[in-house]
Amino acid sequence: MVKRRIAEILRSGQPDESILIQGWVRTKRELKGFAFIEVNDGSSLASLQVVMNQNLPDYEAIIKKLNTGASLEVTGVLVPSQGKGQRIELKAEMVEVYGEADPETYPLQKKRHSYEFLRTIGHLRSRTNSFGAVFRVRNACAAAIHQFFQERGFLWVHTPIITASDCEGAGELFNVTGLNLKDIPRTENNAVDYAQDFFGRPTYLTVSGQLEAEVMAMAFSNVYTFGPTFRAENSNTSRHLAEFWMVEPEMAFCDLDGDMDLAEAFLKHVFKYVLETCPEDMEFFNQRIDDTVLATADNIINNEFQRLTYTEAISLLEKADVKFEYPVSWGLDLQSEHERYLAEQLFKKPVIVSDYPAKIKAFYMRLSDDEKTVRAMDILAPKIGEIIGGSQREERLDVLEKRIIAQGMQPEDLWWYLDLRRYGTVPHAGFGLGFERLVQFMTGMANIRDVIPFPRTPQSADF
Ligand code: 4AD
Ligand code: MG
Repeated sequence: MVKRRIAEILRSGQPDESILIQGWVRTKRELKGFAFIEVNDGSSLASLQVVMNQNLPDYEAIIKKLNTGASLEVTGVLVPSQGKGQRIELKAEMVEVYGEADPETYPLQKKRHSYEFLRTIGHLRSRTNSFGAVFRVRNACAAAIHQFFQERGFLWVHTPIITASDCEGAGELFNVTGLNLKDIPRTENNAVDYAQDFFGRPTYLTVSGQLEAEVMAMAFSNVYTFGPTFRAENSNTSRHLAEFWMVEPEMAFCDLDGDMDLAEAFLKHVFKYVLETCPEDMEFFNQRIDDTVLATADNIINNEFQRLTYTEAISLLEKADVKFEYPVSWGLDLQSEHERYLAEQLFKKPVIVSDYPAKIKAFYMRLSDDEKTVRAMDILAPKIGEIIGGSQREERLDVLEKRIIAQGMQPEDLWWYLDLRRYGTVPHAGFGLGFERLVQFMTGMANIRDVIPFPRTPQSADF
């Protein structure tokens, strides 16, 4: 017997085909003499309707076991469906129950549950329609990302998770140690004696793979990373995670304009791919989560992003007819309310803000001739705010050394990074996309905790 996935049966299954499916019961409807069981195997939003006739061996006993959440295997024949809502259904010939789910205690009932409640059952929530759709779209985003870069000859490079450098210089690092915290070795000055630690030095979970991606770009020209990153920022917002995935392309022989062009083409590609591969899931988000999801996707694909400088953005914000909570003034960083005003209200599409003040940006960004701004760019999305942060990198050794010192860091600690400027330096640029923010943007899900299977946030690392 051929085992088939439900998505594929719903798409192309033909009457009279004999098949076998395996999955979990979503609902059961008992009528006189027969029953309808909706079976879902995660391959699609829609479930397959299985019709069980009371003539089946052990009908009564089996039906009793088939409650929501139970796992089963059905062998049968596909037949045209008499009912509304599906083209085809499976007439069961044999049903085997793998595992029952006690309806008294199984937390997922047919009614709609809140996302807050579903977070408390993170081990079961993926079996709901919403999370099924989210994680299929998340998968499609990842596939689209690899396709985009692979088609353009970018090399996927794997950068370390444990690192000794603070790429963003923001100090939001999780320590990694093998030391016994109950008996920490001390130096003569009573500092922690990292010489005795596993790596013989302080180490952290990485906040970004960029510095290592730059190393690889100086050999392979165009590379990208796609991996987990960690930030110990105590931000309990709907857009921050302590562990999130980042996509970081890095291109040699590229300036900031090339970087912005790539980022825009990249987002357009991902949206297009997801619309083509997950139309039902996207339709679901539009109907049930946020009725602007499809229009937004269309807008992204078909319109050019708005490009403006930080200086222009500040003057637009100063003129804005809204009361912001945080001050607006040249030199201050944009807050999420400012970012959202620009993208959501003013331009109604993604906005690329470039050339930020050097003082509020990382040491590696290329200093402009005005010596006040750096060649940085952020892409701001409606409802999300910053979704991409990138820059042209400082390729001049002397300028980079000065910037490192100005930000209170030691050039010696980054000797290998500076070597890239000593030997065969080239103009280069890259960006980082917050993968979960992309999935939020794509699906309209309001909380970032609901687009990653196992969210890590302050005070929360369950499941
Ligand atoms: O702007 P960020 O800090 O840039 C970098 O890390 C650079 N090294 C990237 C590069 O040029 N290669 O972070 C990049 C993106 C942000 O735009 C945001 O989308 C996401 O990462 N991000 C977060 N996403 C979820 N939770 C957090 N705590 C995040 N912090 C940043
Ligand atoms: Mg940023």
